[in-house]
Amino acid sequence: MKRFVDLADFSREQVLELLALARRLESHPEPRALAGKILGLVFFNPSLRTLASFQVAMMRLGGGSFVINPGQGTWQLETRRGVVMNGAAAEHVREGIPVLASYCDALGIRAFAEGKDLQSDLAETAFNSMIGLLDKPVVNLESAVNHPCQALADWKTMDELEVPRDGRFVLSWAYHPRALPLAVPAAAVHMAAMRGMEVVVLRPEGFALPPAIMQRARHAAAASGGSVRETSDRAEALRGAQVLYAKEWGATEHYGDGAADARLRGALTDWCVREDWFAAAPGCHVMHCLPVRRNTAIADEVLDSARSVVQREAYNRLPAQMAVLHQLLRS
Ligand code: CP
Repeated sequence: MKRFVDLADFSREQVLELLALARRLESHPEPRALAGKILGLVFFNPSLRTLASFQVAMMRLGGGSFVINPGQGTWQLETRRGVVMNGAAAEHVREGIPVLASYCDALGIRAFAEGKDLQSDLAETAFNSMIGLLDKPVVNLESAVNHPCQALADWKTMDELEVPRDGRFVLSWAYHPRALPLAVPAAAVHMAAMRGMEVVVLRPEGFALPPAIMQRARHAAAASGGSVRETSDRAEALRGAQVLYAKEWGATEHYGDGAADARLRGALTDWCVREDWFAAAPGCHVMHCLPVRRNTAIADEVLDSARSVVQREAYNRLPAQMAVLHQLLRS
């Protein structure tokens, strides 16, 4: 494996092999597997889980890591091509990223969507321009419309919970005071489709996922025997569901227009996941990638119940990423 930037780059069988390796590394630790190897971690945006779990993954495999938060103790890095650099950024990624890569054996990059131009974000313009500078293994720590490490951990979590391969997976929009990126919903819907599940995207009017994201998921479902559809009928979507994956995201039709998005979402505060959502899905698990705003996206009564598996998802980032690093750096 040369890079881990998108689950779609792998066949279903290859993902199952990665998950088997993750389980093996949990039961049979390999504390010297990556001895002498260094992972560079560049975070243009904040993190708790990704930052900590990648550092720990390298330590548990015998390697080391360094972390760069551009602009926080280091030079601010410019990502745009062709700009006159007379602003805050002292260095361009075209110099900075290859320099960092020259110090390590693999580089992870987190660069969220700019949230201004949907087509540019769907094309992963900023992220792709950076990884295009690298001739070393690279890991996507969350880009504009992808979060493959989260998706791999979520797949592992569902396997552990014995969620049937063809079970119903409901990706539900959840309220947040502002528009959040599409990376996690896009990755989650694709992952569940690739797993072979009956995927239902439950969202209020105005919050349909972009057609390109739905089309990609449908393509994955066609190969795995799953299906993908969308609805705004919560009762119908949740009837008999095995998983509700809650996530907040912005309105596609108002992408880049915070005021218009805010007007639309202002009336949707009832899209906070509560226990009474599950009357017809008593065994349904609730997933969320975290961080989550309590009593905004998901109510305390759900997060603090046995229904919530958010801690297990977060823990699974560690073994899933250990498997990714093992594959990238061991050979
Ligand atoms: N789920 C996730 O990626 O968490 P962080 O943003 O804290 O890394």
